[in-house]
Amino acid sequence: MPSAEVCAVAARIVHDVVAQGRSLEMAAKKHLNTVPARRISEIREIAWGTLRWWHRYHGVLSRQLHRPLRARDRILESLLVCGLYQYDHLDEPDYAVTASTVDAAALLGAPKATSLINAVLRSHLRAKTSTEPASDEELFATPRWLLNAIRKAWPNQWNQVLEAANRKPPMTLRVNALQMSRDEYLKWLRQQGFSAQTSTLSPWGVILDKPVSVAELPGFAAGKVSIQDAAAQMTPIFCQPAQGARVLDACAAPGGKCTHLLEVYPQIKSLTALDRPGRTEAISDNLTRLGLTAKLIAGDVLQPETWWDGQLFDLIVLDAPCSGTGVMRRHPDIRHHRRASDIITYATTQAQMAARLWPLLAPGGQLLYITCSVLPQENDGPLLELHRKHSGEKPEKPTVSGALTTELGNQFLPDEEHDGLYFASLFKD
Ligand SMILES: C[S@@+](CC[C@H](N)C(=O)[O-])C[C@H]1O[C@@H](n2cnc3c(N)ncnc32)[C@H](O)[C@@H]1O
Repeated sequence: MPSAEVCAVAARIVHDVVAQGRSLEMAAKKHLNTVPARRISEIREIAWGTLRWWHRYHGVLSRQLHRPLRARDRILESLLVCGLYQYDHLDEPDYAVTASTVDAAALLGAPKATSLINAVLRSHLRAKTSTEPASDEELFATPRWLLNAIRKAWPNQWNQVLEAANRKPPMTLRVNALQMSRDEYLKWLRQQGFSAQTSTLSPWGVILDKPVSVAELPGFAAGKVSIQDAAAQMTPIFCQPAQGARVLDACAAPGGKCTHLLEVYPQIKSLTALDRPGRTEAISDNLTRLGLTAKLIAGDVLQPETWWDGQLFDLIVLDAPCSGTGVMRRHPDIRHHRRASDIITYATTQAQMAARLWPLLAPGGQLLYITCSVLPQENDGPLLELHRKHSGEKPEKPTVSGALTTELGNQFLPDEEHDGLYFASLFKD
């Protein structure tokens, strides 16, 4: 049963994200610091889940409250929404959730609010019908602008995309092909008592039946495996570097895709991993753990003149910063922080990045453009002009099972097994 302390910390995290505009990463860092380790998974369950389902239960709560809470009581709004989420999603008796939520109000410095919390929750339990979603926004727990954008982009699959965004993500491992085969690792994992299956999408992927901390994973510290979603593991499927290839990963941190390329393609002669200052340490940590080597550069993709040595690349991977609309289940703060106008800003930057990197590509070279977005404005969109301007480069659209073909690329829509990612390649004549 979640304690009052667990409910209070979860409410603080939710409040920081929803009312203060903090990222979930920052909010979690701040509030999980002082919490006993054994409580963290319960807090995560409530806080992450409530953030995924906020737009549903906040709507339900608004109909329940006769007038909105005062601005200084907004933390109680988060606490109440956490309570409503728990009634529907946790296997706990209603009375236990009510008791912990009421007691949590005192821990949040609002002891006088306990009767209000009690009254709201009890009247909600009496009138269960009030949980019926009043709109698609509530049904799919997604802000209207985003729901409309996804519906427009995927008229036949939009509800599948939104439903996937509300599920808990699986924990997916990538077996290091340089160290052992997937079958060997799976056997080892099962011998250690873990229950896991192979990914149907990625040939390197293993999906755990139940997430665990990386410290518990056999061979993680020794570089036998990494944590990476199955669709993100498709990067090597979309390129085939030749013997002696020079590769640039232009947005490389924390190094998930570049380390995968090095594991799968030993013929790569050199790989340069670029990211913004302050972000390259994470790449370095991953390279060290996996026993791989790359040249690290802290720099700006948009200013190659400040870091490029003039030698052309055979393969440039541009895993561009994006809205993250394909990974919302892993990052439930995305639906709270993104605005419609952000999509235009991302698309402009993505197009600029692709255009700046194009001259760095050798004749015959490949620009592999990737995002974790499901919105065409960020996917085909930023490449269209480059594609039109340079008549030589033809989009290569290998048919990969599980992906939908778009004008220029391949779109994986999120489902039970994997996240939503987009891959497209332009080749230089
Ligand atoms: C989607 S993430 C990359 C994930 C990475 N490829 C992986 O697989 O682990 C996008 C990255 O772009 C970086 N980035 C954003 N703007 C940048 C810029 N102007 N120059 C260099 N890197 C940038 C971000 O710091 C972030 O690490």
